[in-house]
Amino acid sequence: MNEFFRFKYFLKYQWQAKTKYYLHSPFVYQFYLNVLEGKDDQQLKQIRNLRKVLAKDHTTIEIKELGTGKTSSKQISKLESEVAVREKYGALLYRLAQYFKVSSILEIGTSIGISSAYQALANNLAKVTSLEGAPDLIMLAKKNHSALNINNITINEGNFDLILPEYLKTQNTLGLVFFDGNHRKEATLNYFNQCLKKANDDSIFIFDDIYWSPEMFDAWQQIKAHPQITLTLDIFQFGICFFRKEKLAKEEFVLRY
Ligand SMILES: C[S@@+](CC[C@H](N)C(=O)[O-])C[C@H]1O[C@@H](n2cnc3c(N)ncnc32)[C@H](O)[C@@H]1O
Repeated sequence: MNEFFRFKYFLKYQWQAKTKYYLHSPFVYQFYLNVLEGKDDQQLKQIRNLRKVLAKDHTTIEIKELGTGKTSSKQISKLESEVAVREKYGALLYRLAQYFKVSSILEIGTSIGISSAYQALANNLAKVTSLEGAPDLIMLAKKNHSALNINNITINEGNFDLILPEYLKTQNTLGLVFFDGNHRKEATLNYFNQCLKKANDDSIFIFDDIYWSPEMFDAWQQIKAHPQITLTLDIFQFGICFFRKEKLAKEEFVLRY
């Protein structure tokens, strides 16, 4: 059912998506040039090489599901290919964090640490905090971060329901937030509403898999409509939200990537 839903909306996206030649907003035009079309640098090669190693590793990892307490297992190769952010979008996270010189990053959903690696390598002075509930995944994520010589990521362990409010209590404001944990409508809106309280003009919220299911699509519609958000960019895989106050009217763009 979700495949059909995604396919239908993917066709719609292909139809609507604009290239840089049709952008009237200078901010979005610069975003297109620097983030969507930005050049990849050598650091991304390091992650690519690590991913190649992980893709060949068929060791099984036990994952205790939160809530049900059930344990499932998955090979590292599958976690790399099916769960971690795809390379194209990881590179986008990297360029985005670099372009906006983000100094504080919160990620909801670490898994084996791939998307956090892209964001942390973008600026080694940025403080990255990633939240994850499965201890075995955290161990592997830490191993991956060490292999990349990354020292600016802290992984907080526990259920998002507990550790997200705890983390938010320690922050006055949020920089970049990457929502890639529980892809359910209620949970996504709940994390969004909690983070919203700490958003400022320069905050950037990125939601993964906005067309994953009708539920996620509904969540994205509600997020886009929120009055605090002044600009949204839809690149199909991600929905990106800005809070910049200088905008007079709310704007939404669907961008080809
Ligand atoms: C899609 S994966 C994250 C992928 C990662 N951002 C990447 O691209 O490399 C989502 C992760 O969120 C974790 N997760 C889901 N629901 C959770 C919850 N309620 N509390 C803590 N962790 C949770 C899962 O264990 C899983 O590892």
